[in-house]
Amino acid sequence: MVQAETTAGGLAGLRVAVFESRMAGAMAELVGRQGGVPVPAGALREEPLSENPDALAFARGLRAGRFDDVILLTGVGARYLAEAVAAELGPVEWIEALRGVRLIVRGPKPQAVVRDWGLTPAVVAPEPNTWRELLAAIDAAGSVAGRRIAIQEYGQPPTELIEALTARGAVVTRVPVYRWALPDDLIALRQVVRMICKERLGAVALTSAQQVVHLFEIARSMRLESELRRALREAVIVASVGPTTSEALRAAGVEPDLVPDHPKMGHLVATLGRGWRQVQKAGRLGPAAFGASSPAEPTRAAPAQSDRLRESPFLRACRREPSGVTPIWLMRQAGRYMPEYRALRARVGFLELCRTPELAAEVTISAAEQLGVDAAILFADILLILEPLGFDLEFSRGEGPVIHNPVRTAADVDRLRPFDVEALGFVLDAVRLIRGGLRADLPLIGFAGAPFTLACYAIEGGGSRHYDRAKAFMYRDPGAWHALMERLTDATAAYLTAQAEAGAQALQLFDSWVGTLAPADYRDYVQPHLCRLFARLPQTVPAIHFGTGTGSLLELQRDAGGQVIGLDWRVDLDNAWDRLGPDVAVQGNLDPAVLLGPVETVRAQADRILQQAADRPGHIFNLGHGILPGTPVDRVRALVDYVHEASSR
Ligand code: CP3
Repeated sequence: MVQAETTAGGLAGLRVAVFESRMAGAMAELVGRQGGVPVPAGALREEPLSENPDALAFARGLRAGRFDDVILLTGVGARYLAEAVAAELGPVEWIEALRGVRLIVRGPKPQAVVRDWGLTPAVVAPEPNTWRELLAAIDAAGSVAGRRIAIQEYGQPPTELIEALTARGAVVTRVPVYRWALPDDLIALRQVVRMICKERLGAVALTSAQQVVHLFEIARSMRLESELRRALREAVIVASVGPTTSEALRAAGVEPDLVPDHPKMGHLVATLGRGWRQVQKAGRLGPAAFGASSPAEPTRAAPAQSDRLRESPFLRACRREPSGVTPIWLMRQAGRYMPEYRALRARVGFLELCRTPELAAEVTISAAEQLGVDAAILFADILLILEPLGFDLEFSRGEGPVIHNPVRTAADVDRLRPFDVEALGFVLDAVRLIRGGLRADLPLIGFAGAPFTLACYAIEGGGSRHYDRAKAFMYRDPGAWHALMERLTDATAAYLTAQAEAGAQALQLFDSWVGTLAPADYRDYVQPHLCRLFARLPQTVPAIHFGTGTGSLLELQRDAGGQVIGLDWRVDLDNAWDRLGPDVAVQGNLDPAVLLGPVETVRAQADRILQQAADRPGHIFNLGHGILPGTPVDRVRALVDYVHEASSR
């Protein structure tokens, strides 16, 4: 640990993560005033225990004289306690009852609250106000043997204190008043975890033990716990407000670099401002540790990074090159089956989510990193492209997508607006943010809907069972049909090209509904457009050509284009690959419903597919279609882990 020196210096643009919730503004201001760039990520939410039977029982006990001592650990907690007992003890009664006991406070904050009540505590723990000082102060005031002590708890139970008092013969009653929960919105916290791991932060300033606990809890859920520990040990300066926070850091395997003499926010930031240059890690901070405040600010891919990407198992498989493991990712890997996604969607509509690059980026990255898959897929929707063409798109609850002004006549096709890819700039921004925030060896897949599937939506006005309107239009007015397909093809080619330019490493074309066509109709009404589309895509990134129900169309799809052909579960992977021949890679093809079954079945079915692929280079494991909404997340993780384990060569 480095003792803070008194030389002036300031933070010189250092990026400092701050985890305050209630005091977020004050903390950010302190960092800013020192010349640092605050990166706020609220780590806590106070959750008052609204129906608190422990508090009410405590109130009754207090009135009946069943306690000798009351220990108040925090100011906020003491105030909440007064509210929580209100049903039993009104404000006057509460203060009267407290007069009958010895009041013990842990520090200046509960002391101030007690003063507000017009009372004086008998015992006040000196700084740094940990349980040790508190215990010493209690001991100094005499033996606690036989004393009946109530402790107002705050979140993490003060286990050591309770044990020490009990060992001295006291009878301890715990009164939990509020506990700390993770904030509802974990986006900022996740981004900060990633920034720490990638050393895109200079320092973290921690002001409570619970912040440390939550930081590591989030990292664990992202599978980045050891990476976080490594970065905090080696690369990012760790400032701790005081002994309790430092203890939590040590419990997590991290030694704080800087601790102020007084456990206060202002002292913490001042100590950081004065002392950070003397911390050994400071010499190794890269330019990314300084600068602008946007947490997900894209970083330019360095050449070393693009090598790591190019050699990733996923991109090697796209090129049909052997690799040490069969890569796996899953269609709809970010979606409603994930509780965090549902929580986010409770606040934000689906289209709004797609149109907010920071949110789309966060959803994309956290799903990929949480699952441990070998590629991320952009969070967006195939139907977004319809809006700039003039369609009025809505995702209504329970009904799926609705297009309020579908194409019904040739004149409707003529009325479509010229496509400008800038209208989908929010998707391209999301691609940039994702590429900047994603692990450097994890490829990002961009995507779009294929013209036929888009045309079905545009004509039907939504989902459909038989595509009768779309097919009727196609047969009735082939000229208008081809005009529509051309418009969709041009727009899609421009859109996918822009995604690759913004930073996607592969492109998937979703022709989800094309399996409804007879092969001859596919050849006449669809294939020429697809040929043109694939020919216009940048040849620098692989294209995945996906459809469902396409068992009778596979050769035609292959001939239309794409380095990788997506297979659904209605075909055997080995037969399908034999039919496609050795010049394409394949992706698939587990039935998504298998993930609703027992984990042994998941493994057995994954084995069958791996055996059919028989270690041929060029197999990307996936489902035959998107993950179903009711799928348990642990089953998805089990599949990913199992495919890696079973295919490791
Ligand atoms: O795979 C991913 O994780 C990336 C995101 C992605 C979404 N949609 C997000 C989404 C992708 C690649 C798509 C493609 C898509 N969208 C297709 C082709 C693939 C397929 O599933 O066949 C199609 C046909 C659509 C159109 C669409 N979008 C429908 C029919 C629906 C409603 C039904 C449903 O499955 O939810 C959507 C909404 C949609 N797209 C959701 C998600 C996560 C759910 C929206 C919500 O949050 O309520």
